[in-house]
Amino acid sequence: MKITVVGAGHVGATVAQQIAQQELAKEVVLIDILEGIPQGKGLDLWETAPVLGSDTIVRGTNTYADTAGSDICVITAGVARKPGMSRDDLLETNKKIVKSVTESLVKHSPKSILLVVSNPLDVMCYVALKTSGFPHARVFGMAGILDTARYRAFLAEDLGVSVRDIQAIVLGGHGDSMVPLPRYTTIAGIPLSEWMSPDRIEKHVDRTRNGGAEIVGYLKTGSAYYAPGAAVAEMVEALVKDSKRILPCSAWLTGEYGLREVYIGVPVVLGRKGIERIVEVTLTPEEKAALETSASHVKGVIDRMAL
Ligand code: LAC
Repeated sequence: MKITVVGAGHVGATVAQQIAQQELAKEVVLIDILEGIPQGKGLDLWETAPVLGSDTIVRGTNTYADTAGSDICVITAGVARKPGMSRDDLLETNKKIVKSVTESLVKHSPKSILLVVSNPLDVMCYVALKTSGFPHARVFGMAGILDTARYRAFLAEDLGVSVRDIQAIVLGGHGDSMVPLPRYTTIAGIPLSEWMSPDRIEKHVDRTRNGGAEIVGYLKTGSAYYAPGAAVAEMVEALVKDSKRILPCSAWLTGEYGLREVYIGVPVVLGRKGIERIVEVTLTPEEKAALETSASHVKGVIDRMAL
């Protein structure tokens, strides 16, 4: 198993670190246009291997030939938000970057899975899909695990229970219009409504929607990377182990949830071939309307964008 991580910034380096620590691949290639940064971070990460007892080799490079034959390519390249910016403000800059990165990746790894992390996430998945010409089962994005992780962390802290016992789904785009589903949130199998009042639930849902901006507000110079890195590693693990995990990911819909020709966060089954199935859950009219609003927002950005 060979995994390429594009972008040696905070997110890319954290992804490489998680993959190496969890020994999810034989080799991780960290690539960036900045000279020396991927080489330095890659070498530093490889030098953690003897301490951690992991045989995953990490190498940094500026040359796409070194990524040849990758099974999975994680795209984190692009600029991050600053306080006051929305993810959509990154569109023009990141579109060009994701497009050129995808062109280089597919040349050297035509059979790979493309796992997109760059923002605005759902739209960047579309850029990678159209540029690569890959089947949509092999092009998808990480957002839902991060959004549900935030939601689960807030609930666990409030209730004083283990994060491990909280299951949750967040649907929709990775943005202000995301759709957390309290009705499908359970704690040790017990519905969330048994644990807290609707007002308290709404407070956590709202904080989840603004979870990315909360971190940007603190960091000022960039956005989150520890939780995004861990979320990508969870997806990579499901892919390499063919474990058929059900995880919320940004997927290309072809009629599921009554939506088509759009990337949006939905629960999927992840295995060695990528997205093996999209899981559809029944929604109330309000939940359905919220998902449609979120999808039409993503679609609007896609339609306005020239590729
Ligand atoms: C976040 C950014 C990375 O949600 O999208 O933290």
